[in-house]
Amino acid sequence: MKLCVIIPLCALITLTQQVPPQDQCVCDLTNSEKAFPHDKLSTVEDNASKCNSNITPKKTLELESLMLGLERRLPQLEKDLSVLERENDGELYGVLSLLVIENELTEIKQLMDKLNMTSLRHQHLTTDTTEQRLKRDLDQCKDEHHPTPHPTQPPQGICPHGKFVNITGPGVYTAGEYPGSYMYGAWGRDPKPAVGKENWYWLVMLTSSNVYSNYIRLYSSLSSLIVGVSVPGNVLIHSSNPTTNTVQGPNVVLYGDALYYNCYNKYDVCRFNLSTKTVTTMQLPEGTRFNSKGNFCRLDECYPYTDLDLATDESGVWVIYTTTQDFGNLVLSKVEEGEPPTLNQTWHTSVYKQAVTNTFMACGVLYATRYVSKEVEEIFYSFDTSTGVEKFDIGIFIRKMSPNIYSLNYSPVDQMLHAYCNSFMVSYKVLFE
Ligand SMILES: *[C@@H]1O[C@H](CO)[C@@H](O)[C@H](O)[C@H]1NC(C)=O
Ligand SMILES: *[C@@H]1O[C@H](CO)[C@@H](O)[C@H](O)[C@H]1NC(C)=O
Ligand SMILES: *[C@@H]1O[C@H](CO)[C@@H](O)[C@H](O)[C@H]1NC(C)=O
Ligand SMILES: *[C@@H]1O[C@H](CO)[C@@H](O)[C@H](O)[C@H]1NC(C)=O
Ligand SMILES: *[C@@H]1O[C@H](CO)[C@@H](O)[C@H](O)[C@H]1NC(C)=O
Repeated sequence: MKLCVIIPLCALITLTQQVPPQDQCVCDLTNSEKAFPHDKLSTVEDNASKCNSNITPKKTLELESLMLGLERRLPQLEKDLSVLERENDGELYGVLSLLVIENELTEIKQLMDKLNMTSLRHQHLTTDTTEQRLKRDLDQCKDEHHPTPHPTQPPQGICPHGKFVNITGPGVYTAGEYPGSYMYGAWGRDPKPAVGKENWYWLVMLTSSNVYSNYIRLYSSLSSLIVGVSVPGNVLIHSSNPTTNTVQGPNVVLYGDALYYNCYNKYDVCRFNLSTKTVTTMQLPEGTRFNSKGNFCRLDECYPYTDLDLATDESGVWVIYTTTQDFGNLVLSKVEEGEPPTLNQTWHTSVYKQAVTNTFMACGVLYATRYVSKEVEEIFYSFDTSTGVEKFDIGIFIRKMSPNIYSLNYSPVDQMLHAYCNSFMVSYKVLFE
């Protein structure tokens, strides 16, 4: 390992917490990013606090939430660095911790950049600001938020990126806004976002009995999800939880500004439209297992209320489930977006659902995972909907940060897998040939 960066961590912590350094802890860290800009952090902080005195309360709030974000990240970074020191055996765990820390550094850098931008904006506001300048900022802002192009819709089974070969990560690994509070849930990014919501992330936590939910929580960026600042806030499906057509089970997805999920106490797919705040439903075939009777399982333990798994890929929304007539084997159906949503083609597989811990879709191919150990999950199975070919020897391994993956979904926007594991949000990058 080449030595590229040295981070005097104590100096970093002192900046925000004003505590004198005790031990001189210096950590060597190989990092693909440029040197950690703690000098920049201090300038930006100084400028930000100077700025605080003469700006509007609303702007102050914005700055404060960013500062809060930084304050939360730094102790976490310190903790993870000490974990790295303990595990620095050149083996898997050391490398893993390193990845986590690298990710944290990136996140902190993003926060600092945002802080810089905010404080710069404030300077513009407080000094002799001309209308022209404001307009230029606006234009710049518009350019930055240019909608990312929607993924093209390839024929099912044909992947625009080539063949799925491996995954790397974890990339993101975060406890989010409610550390440890909700064991079950799902998170991710809308592959077909509404205009202006291209960078948003969503989170659904099963807040009642570990089974039910009645709202979706939104974040305007990945950083705000990580630091737990939910700016758009909640969108409520219903004020009661649970009740008719609220969420049951963790495997939900957001697609086209609508949440798809297993409706409470039914074997239906519900679709909650975030703009109209209305729910439409779509019934699955008679015999579909529901109410925790057709779950994903590991060894001798099943994951409650995982009867219906919703998934997204380049071609849209899918639902994975099982039926009595399929003897508990996985069944896969394409969901069409119409009003109401309808089922299109259905495929019957020969993999037993109880032998699977979760599934996801990528490029029209269904992938299934199984539990190997507390640290490792294996993508072992695939079913190609364009050819009907099944494979049981995929052999791609997921390095876990906590034992159980309760939801797993693929984001065709950035080829990431989003997992929700024992209340942590984790992401992996999918590598294609
Ligand atoms: C802050 O942002 C401006 C404009 O984007 C850039 O020129 C400057 O170098 C940044 N400063 C820091 C400390 O990052
Ligand atoms: C901080 O403020 C000083 C003086 O007001 C200015 O020269 C400098 O560019 C500012 N730095 C940042 C990063 O905003
Ligand atoms: C997949 O990635 C892991 C970790 O990056 C690596 O150890 C493994 O060899 C890769 N497998 C293949 C088939 O490339
Ligand atoms: C949500 O409702 C709006 C307004 O009726 C409609 O234009 C949009 O297509 C709906 N979204 C979905 C996913 O059905
Ligand atoms: C069903 O899927 C086929 C193949 O992708 C497509 O051509 C057809 O339009 C779909 N039917 C409906 C009702 O959307």
